[in-house]
Amino acid sequence: MKEAFLKLPQRVYLGENLLDKLGEFLQTRKNTNVLLFTDQGLLKAGLVQPLEDYLQAHGIAYQIESEIKPEPSYTQVDALFKKVSQFNFNTIVAIGGGSVMDAAKLISLLLHTDLSVKDLINDPTKAQKHCATVFIPTTAGTGSEATINAIVSIPEKQVKFGIVADAMLPDLVLLDGNNVKNLPKSILASSAIDALSHCVECYTAKNATVMSDGVALLGAKLIFKNIIKAYQDTKDIQAREALQLGAFYGGVAITASGTNIVHALSYPLGGKFHIAHGVANAILFKACMETNKPAIEDRLAALCTNIWPEEGSKSTSAKADFVIAKIAEIVAKTEIPTDLKKFGVQETDLDFLVDSALEQKRLLSHNLKKLTRSEIAQIYKAVM
Ligand SMILES: NC(=O)c1ccc[n+]([C@@H]2O[C@H](COP(=O)([O-])OP(=O)(O)OC[C@H]3O[C@@H](n4cnc5c(N)ncnc54)[C@H](O)[C@@H]3O)[C@@H](O)[C@H]2O)c1
Ligand SMILES: [Zn+2]
Repeated sequence: MKEAFLKLPQRVYLGENLLDKLGEFLQTRKNTNVLLFTDQGLLKAGLVQPLEDYLQAHGIAYQIESEIKPEPSYTQVDALFKKVSQFNFNTIVAIGGGSVMDAAKLISLLLHTDLSVKDLINDPTKAQKHCATVFIPTTAGTGSEATINAIVSIPEKQVKFGIVADAMLPDLVLLDGNNVKNLPKSILASSAIDALSHCVECYTAKNATVMSDGVALLGAKLIFKNIIKAYQDTKDIQAREALQLGAFYGGVAITASGTNIVHALSYPLGGKFHIAHGVANAILFKACMETNKPAIEDRLAALCTNIWPEEGSKSTSAKADFVIAKIAEIVAKTEIPTDLKKFGVQETDLDFLVDSALEQKRLLSHNLKKLTRSEIAQIYKAVM
């Protein structure tokens, strides 16, 4: 028997100027009162104003909250929840990157309960959604708008952690190209590499299904073919939109097969050294694929055949190497800082990194290759 499933948001719209779709959705809700959830970077980028204008023009009550920090800790989300729970909202419209959307997901689960984020970390089966959610992603991106995960850091353990619950799926997603038009190059690159790692990890995962394979491949192709173009030519809006869609597909793939090696090793780098999630993934991506190669060679080769059919005459091993070389080329050409020493990581941190990665049991269980302690240590050493 084979299992094939995906979990999807209720409705997704792609294109530009999609706010009427938000209006239509809000009209279906009684006594709509919106929590407009975002962060300071989005306010500065001017991406929240059109939403405010729209809500005002249509007489829809809203309150804005923008204090969430990038890559928040669970205590920060709890504190923000206390603040916003005083507003009488029944719909969250979250506009931002993964940090904003993940915090919004958690708030939708905490509302009208006595739970804290720690309770959900300890027992995600307690998660139930208590208000409608609308996600408008602005990076290109985590795919959080499509996943059933919310990632928080746990400062006392110096690590990041993924809470997983179906209740996190949103009611509406707007993939509006306008939101990535002016995304700064460095965030574009690191968030798109995060998305690429979602697609490649899902395509090579132990739990991959025919359906997760389909969407992971669509996403991988869009990102492989467009990321360098989008980075080098900031006016190439089509390439940016391709990354935005590829990131969405990566998120959908995660709902079935989950991420694995890159994310398991990346969380300690984010948790202790505060390296941005996409940057940490970029640093580890090639070395992780090389270590996994004996177990996933045929999967990488299938990616190669599908995305670069002109390489079809190569051997399976050479095709896998081709994909790994493309990953390395992308990291180099998008100028992502990869020197761990510059982030304060020392060789003496190796034991912490390995112990902490081994704690990511959920992610490592999705990896086709069972990783030994020494293999994990070798990966970190390779990027130091
Ligand atoms: N839930 C999931 O499935 C999932 C998947 C992957 C990563 N994540 C998590 O998402 C977080 C990272 O999210 P991210 O990479 O999207 O970045 P982010 O949300 O942390 O944003 C990074 C910075 O970019 C700014 N920004 C975002 N969009 C912008 C735009 N269009 N113009 C100008 N500035 C903009 C933000 O204000 C912020 O300062 C991490 O915590 C990561 O662990 C979650
Ligand atoms: Zn990720």
